[in-house]
Amino acid sequence: MGKLDGRVVLITGAARGQGEKEARLFAAEGAKVVLADVLDDQGEAVAKEIGGHFVHLDVSKEEDWGAAARAAKDAFGKIDGLVNNAGILRFNELTSTPLEEFQQIMNVNQVGAFLGIKTIAPEIAAAGGGSIVNTSSFTGITGMALVGAYAASKHAIVGLTRVAALELAAKKIRVNAVCPGAIDTAMSNPAQLDPGGDIQAGTEALDELYRKLVPLGRVGRPEEVARLALFLTAEEDSAYITGQPFVVDGGWLA
Ligand code: NAI
Repeated sequence: MGKLDGRVVLITGAARGQGEKEARLFAAEGAKVVLADVLDDQGEAVAKEIGGHFVHLDVSKEEDWGAAARAAKDAFGKIDGLVNNAGILRFNELTSTPLEEFQQIMNVNQVGAFLGIKTIAPEIAAAGGGSIVNTSSFTGITGMALVGAYAASKHAIVGLTRVAALELAAKKIRVNAVCPGAIDTAMSNPAQLDPGGDIQAGTEALDELYRKLVPLGRVGRPEEVARLALFLTAEEDSAYITGQPFVVDGGWLA
């Protein structure tokens, strides 16, 4: 018996990173997974491996959401779970952030999750209830220099989560958020964090940085976030939990 037997869960940003690990774990727990992403080839390949269904979805486009919901129902008959995981990160001081960059980050991270809730919550309600997990960040709880737009979008996810939980509880939909710390995916690749710098993936310098920053002494694994998303999606684990952000960061914020 899997924890998600009979469930149909749509996961955004599922072609790689944390979303891919969530898709694999949820499928292993019995769910039919709809993988949604802008990376078509990678998403198709993962979907094929786990018996899921891939849909092209730019989370910032409302028309894409409508099409994705229809495709999910055509494939599996209903939707009763959503993981809003897709996100982007850019580094800039607020005073040098171009308006277009700020808006792009908001559109994907914040508006994307809003559209996901707006489009998919009625489907989950029609299926009799279920769960929504939004992806915030430790920068959705505290500040960090150079990620102003990102941190603003991730703080917004926490607010969205609380309001959605209040509005959707009567429809038997629970809404929670995961707030990862530094997780080992393309997003936290040092080539992006420190372009041209001397901290590179797989080096002792990077390990040393995480030993200093993170009480548990290492970067997080995407599977560790997927485990929390599974816990928050599975009724048997979290039936009485809604409206809350959960930090998974090796103790960074402790
Ligand atoms: P990633 O960059 O490997 O994965 C992000 C995924 O989102 C990719 O598959 C990408 O194609 C997809 N995506 C980007 N824009 C999209 C759009 N407009 N529509 C649909 N899909 C889109 O990074 P990772 O780490 O797996 O990120 C997953 C989530 O976790 C993001 O929301 C991120 O902000 C959050 N997060 C990541 C942390 C980290 O250290 N890696 C820390 C805290 C939060």
